[in-house]
Amino acid sequence: MILSLLSLAYFATSVTAWAWIANVPGVDLSAIYAHPEYLPKHRRQTGPGGIGGPDAICPFNSDHPGAAPYDPDFPYTGSINGLPGTGIGGVQVPAPGDEAHQFTPPGPNDIRGPCPGMNTAANHNFLSHDGITNLAELVSAQQNLYNLAYDLAVFIAVRGIALDGDVVTTKLSIGCDATERTSIDPTGTLGREPGLDAHNKFEGDTSLTRRDFFLNDGDAYTFQGDMFANMYRVANETSNGLFDRDTIAVYRSRRYDESLADNANFYFGPKALLLYGAASFIYNVFPVFGPEGEANIDTVSTFYGAVPDGNGGYNHVPERIPENWFNRRVAYGIAEISSEIAYQYGRFPKLFGGNVGKNNFLALNTTFRIIKDGKLPDEVTAKDITCLLYQIATDNVPGTVANEVELPLQVLTWVLTQLNPIFQNTGCPLRII
Ligand code: HEM
Ligand SMILES: *[C@@H]1O[C@H](CO)[C@@H](O)[C@H](O)[C@H]1NC(C)=O
Ligand SMILES: *[C@@H]1O[C@H](CO)[C@@H](O)[C@H](O)[C@H]1NC(C)=O
Repeated sequence: MILSLLSLAYFATSVTAWAWIANVPGVDLSAIYAHPEYLPKHRRQTGPGGIGGPDAICPFNSDHPGAAPYDPDFPYTGSINGLPGTGIGGVQVPAPGDEAHQFTPPGPNDIRGPCPGMNTAANHNFLSHDGITNLAELVSAQQNLYNLAYDLAVFIAVRGIALDGDVVTTKLSIGCDATERTSIDPTGTLGREPGLDAHNKFEGDTSLTRRDFFLNDGDAYTFQGDMFANMYRVANETSNGLFDRDTIAVYRSRRYDESLADNANFYFGPKALLLYGAASFIYNVFPVFGPEGEANIDTVSTFYGAVPDGNGGYNHVPERIPENWFNRRVAYGIAEISSEIAYQYGRFPKLFGGNVGKNNFLALNTTFRIIKDGKLPDEVTAKDITCLLYQIATDNVPGTVANEVELPLQVLTWVLTQLNPIFQNTGCPLRII
């Protein structure tokens, strides 16, 4: 009984219409309402207990190995079971002799999704190889493999689980909907847990190498070789072939402009700030020794699984860690990622908001914290961004141009329990649990 009450509280997503948009003439919200949950099409689980129906293709692997266990011979940054590690990187990954973390390509039954960082981690058994993971694995993997700081590792993992997974089991699919294996309610009757593939939860429009949901029949998670080539083209134009912060800032700005022009259902809400953060991993985490190394084509394409197709485009192979690769010496934390978000946004400020029909952009004119009239303040600081990241994770945030998605109470409570300790010393005002 208690269980089902908790589950109901958790799954009952309530949606409040934005008063200001309800009466706008000519607004076409049919596409949004046709996909009320933003579940990617045709991507539910099959297999034992699966309820996906005939077109369900989310793979089912009965073998759930879990991440390779901690081995004192190969401690990396020393994070065990989701706890803080040393934060001391500069470590070769996988370490010579560490068989458990050698590259193992995914099989047809393993789940992979829109995040090259997670796909790579699963292909090296830092996450469970079947693509069903949990909080402890995510927090340790991000520290041990990439030398993300504990605070940032917790923040991103909590976002992923709260939006796309299950806060009771803390399980998350790194791709398609595998509710039967992630949920406290495996029948899935109380609600679906869509995994990282889901649109407008963590995943959003303007991705670097994935198409927008509404421009690609609901597939916003598959690697696109022509988009990777476009990003490389910008690297050539901007930074002599390097995927550095200027390249990424220019290319992200272009991606916004493309979505604005092409996508009648384009949405760019406050959560899109996280996409700037994800993009910063390319130049601050992927290179050998992080920012000391070069974000060159060899390194970036290996993590992305991008291989030239001989015609100027790229095909996809499984993502992997480059040979002779060492992670960042200094851990990458919330303060650092906030300053990259501020930098990229500041280079090419964009309006938050969305299209309601082609060439019909409406800026968010409801104030969300420091976002006013659809914009961040001109001189936004890293500290401002840090506090905004906390607010985005713990407040009701505009979820589409038409709706505000309210965090169910149980999700909010869990998120606050996880995040308040790591934001304790930031000086940001915290919500009381
Ligand atoms: C729990 C941790 C993480 C979760 C849940 C997560 C999830 C995601 C999701 C959902 C996206 C798609 C965003 C979009 O719509 O563009 C994404 C993109 C991305 N992530 Fe992650 N991520 C995590 C950690 C990491 C780490 C540690 C790295 C790198 C070391 C990374 C690298 C990237 C990159 C480069 C992209 C952009 C992909 C593209 O569009 O080309 N992520 N991530
Ligand atoms: C917000 O924009 C809508 C549509 O343009 C407009 O009708 C409404 O009055 C605006 N609201 C505020 C508070 O400015
Ligand atoms: C970028 O420049 C390199 C080196 O000149 C070239 O080989 C590559 O084809 C260029 N890539 C694109 C996408 O323009």
